Amino acid sequence: MVRIAPSMLSADFLHLEKDVEMVNRYADIFHLDIMDGVFVPNLSYGFPIVEAIASKAEKPLDVHLMIINPEKYVERFAKAGADMISFHLNATEKPEEVLAQIRSLGCKAGLVINPDIEVESLFPYLEQADYILLMSVFAGFGGQKFIEETYGRVERLKAEIDRRGLNLPIEVDGGVSPSNAAALIAKGAEILVAGSAVFKSTDPAATIASMKA
Ligand code: DX5
Ligand code: ZN
Repeated sequence: MVRIAPSMLSADFLHLEKDVEMVNRYADIFHLDIMDGVFVPNLSYGFPIVEAIASKAEKPLDVHLMIINPEKYVERFAKAGADMISFHLNATEKPEEVLAQIRSLGCKAGLVINPDIEVESLFPYLEQADYILLMSVFAGFGGQKFIEETYGRVERLKAEIDRRGLNLPIEVDGGVSPSNAAALIAKGAEILVAGSAVFKSTDPAATIASMKA
C-alpha cells in the first residue's frame, strides 16, 4: 500500500493547524525535516514544532533527521511524539546502535542516504532497519528538482530487499510529485514524501490522491 507523507517544511507556519488537519484528512504520514546547519547547510525547526504537530496529528509522525550524531537527540524526538525516526547513514559512527536505540524507544527506525551514496552501502543494515529513505535530491532544502537516477536506485534496493524476503518499505524524498509518483511506485517505492507538490498545489487533496493512483 502506497502512503503519502507531506513534508511540513512547506506548510504554512502561520496556519499550521490548518495544514495538520489537511494531512489528517487526506494523507497518511506527517514528514518532519530536522536540520542542524552542520550536516546540511540549512536550519529548519525543532522540538516545539514537532510537539505542536503531534498534539493534533491523527497520522504517524515520520521525523527525518538531517543532523550529525543523531544518537544525541532520538530520545527527545521520540518523547516529542515521533513514531518513525530516520537518520543519515553517514551522520553517525554507529548506525547499528542508533537503529537499535530508535527501536528501543518504540519507534520505527529508518536509514537515509543522499543521492551520491551507493545503495549497496545500506546492505549491511537492512535487517536492522524498519524502512529505508532514499533521497531523490540532496538533503537540505525543499523545492529542488527530482534526480532521475533515483528510479534505478529504488529498483536496485527493492531487488535486494525482495531477495532477502524482508518487509522493508522504501521511502523517497525530494522533488516527488504527481509527474514521477507512478514510476517510483512501479520501481518499488511505498512511501512518497512531497513538500512543494502538496503545499503549493491549489488542491492538495487532489494532488495527494493523484500521487496514489
Ligand atoms: C529536503 C527534505 C524534504 C523536503 C521535500 O532535505 O528532506 O523532505 O521537504 O520537499 P520537496 O517535496 O519540495 O522536494
Ligand atoms: Zn525529508
